[in-house]
Amino acid sequence: MKSDFQFQLKKYNSFNVESISPIVFHPQSYDDLLDLSNKLDRPFYILGEGFNTLFVDEVAPIIIKPHFIGITIDETESTYIIKVAANENWHELVCYCVKRGINGLENLALIPGSVGAAPVQNIGAYGIELSNYCINVSWFEFSSKKLLELNNQACKFAYRESIFKNELKQKGIITEITLELPKCWQANLSYAGLNDLPQDISAIEVMKQVITLRQSKLPDPNKLPNAGSFFKNPSIVRKQWQSLKASYPDMPSYPQKDGRVKIAAGWLIEHVGLKGYQHNGVGIHDKQALVLVNHHNKCGQQILELAQYVQQKVFSVFDLWLEPEVRFVYSDGEQELETNNSIR
Ligand code: EPU
Repeated sequence: MKSDFQFQLKKYNSFNVESISPIVFHPQSYDDLLDLSNKLDRPFYILGEGFNTLFVDEVAPIIIKPHFIGITIDETESTYIIKVAANENWHELVCYCVKRGINGLENLALIPGSVGAAPVQNIGAYGIELSNYCINVSWFEFSSKKLLELNNQACKFAYRESIFKNELKQKGIITEITLELPKCWQANLSYAGLNDLPQDISAIEVMKQVITLRQSKLPDPNKLPNAGSFFKNPSIVRKQWQSLKASYPDMPSYPQKDGRVKIAAGWLIEHVGLKGYQHNGVGIHDKQALVLVNHHNKCGQQILELAQYVQQKVFSVFDLWLEPEVRFVYSDGEQELETNNSIR
């Protein structure tokens, strides 16, 4: 199996922070996965394209960077069945499908990262989540050395959540996903920014509008290093929402099917006065406060400190604790961001 030693990850994470991994494995076959399962005696981290990962330390753990590629399309009478290997690029997949008249993924255009990372955090945007279309995930389990198939229910998809971030973390590796897209397509124009488009619009036009919207708000990681939304939008119980809404009537909020209410974290961060804030070479984006940016090539530790500062500011004003969407990788592996129990 191809491996790199003392590998600098700066170009492989969208925050562009320096971190050196002692060894990076690049599995690209079932035999490589078997080989890999015998080698993992220390903490490791599976890296896609690095768009949702913060390397906190100057030293990273062992990295696994899978290299499975290929797309196949089958059809039934009413659907297209698309099998995509983990290392295909997500946005290229969306374009590939929409250009062939296979519609449904257009609202998820321009989400950075690999196909294999998509189910892990159940990527979502503009009213659609991967879980709407993902019917299967192929996953290699290190302990049994077997390739297993997880259907949609087994993946335990939720808002920016899945079994792969929880019970199955560190236990295996996604090799392929299967999507099912209905031939009978209707645009999903429910989200602000799409809701004034005509109902008979084509998927290509929806995709163009999504791209325009994203480019107008989200900084291009190639120009200004960032990882998209840094925090998740908090979901709160109705009672807590009612009391917040009474104090902040213009606060955007989205009632959920389970009775809870989702609050826009970007709005909360803006309303504690941090939009456009800069300190120590890192900061909060001036067009979308949910995005933390690395202005001057600073290291992971400074971004971590900024994230903690944002959490504490929001907590002190709104009594809400923001949970990161970004994953934190230290020299000894991935860890949850510590919560400050004394103030929670
Ligand atoms: N808002 C503010 N100030 C800000 C940012 C947002 O007031 O600085 C308000 C907006 O005006 C709007 C509301 O908050 O009323 C929601 O904002 P927006 O539509 O930009 O979406 P978001 O909730 O901030 C989520 C996803 C994005 C996704 C968009 C569109 C999360 C954590 N983020 O952002 O996903 O593109 O919706 O669907 O759910 C990502 O995960 O990296 C990502 C970019």
